[in-house]
Amino acid sequence: MNKYVKLIRIALVAATIMVATKPVSAQESTLYNALGQESGISRIVDETVIQILNDERIKSGFKDTNMKRLAQLLKEQFCVVAGGPCQYSGDEMAIVHEKLGITSAQFNALAEDLQAGMEKCNIPFAIQNKLIARLAPMKRDIVTVK
Ligand code: HEM
Repeated sequence: MNKYVKLIRIALVAATIMVATKPVSAQESTLYNALGQESGISRIVDETVIQILNDERIKSGFKDTNMKRLAQLLKEQFCVVAGGPCQYSGDEMAIVHEKLGITSAQFNALAEDLQAGMEKCNIPFAIQNKLIARLAPMKRDIVTVK
């Protein structure tokens, strides 16, 4: 067999082994994929914003907010948090929310709205919980009122 053909065959076998042994998590089971990648996350945020603006518990807090901009930043942020190939261009959570006087109950209300938004998009419950769990640590930066 020609030397070059042999080398190419060895390279192909090596590449196949590398792909086959790559951990599943790195290949396809990221939360980003489970949420439907960019378009799925976009729909989730749009549905969540609808929930927020209809939520008597928190909607008044958003009356002066540019919701189009907020939705765009939430899409970026959720993408990053879910392990997607994005960049978040907004400000830090503590800085953005520090003067808003947000309570724990309001935080939980928004988390429920997100859950309802994901439900609308038929995201399985276990996946919903994964996104909520990744956002939960932000509570200490967002809630400033007991
Ligand atoms: C996990 C919970 C939350 C996340 C991930 C989150 C995320 C964000 C993001 C990404 C922004 C935009 C940042 C920027 O402007 O650079 C933002 C802004 C804002 N958030 Fe939150 N937020 C959360 C909870 C809340 C809650 C509970 C409230 C009130 C009930 C709230 C009220 C606001 C308001 C009013 C703004 C806009 C501020 C402005 O217009 O300058 N957020 N949030």
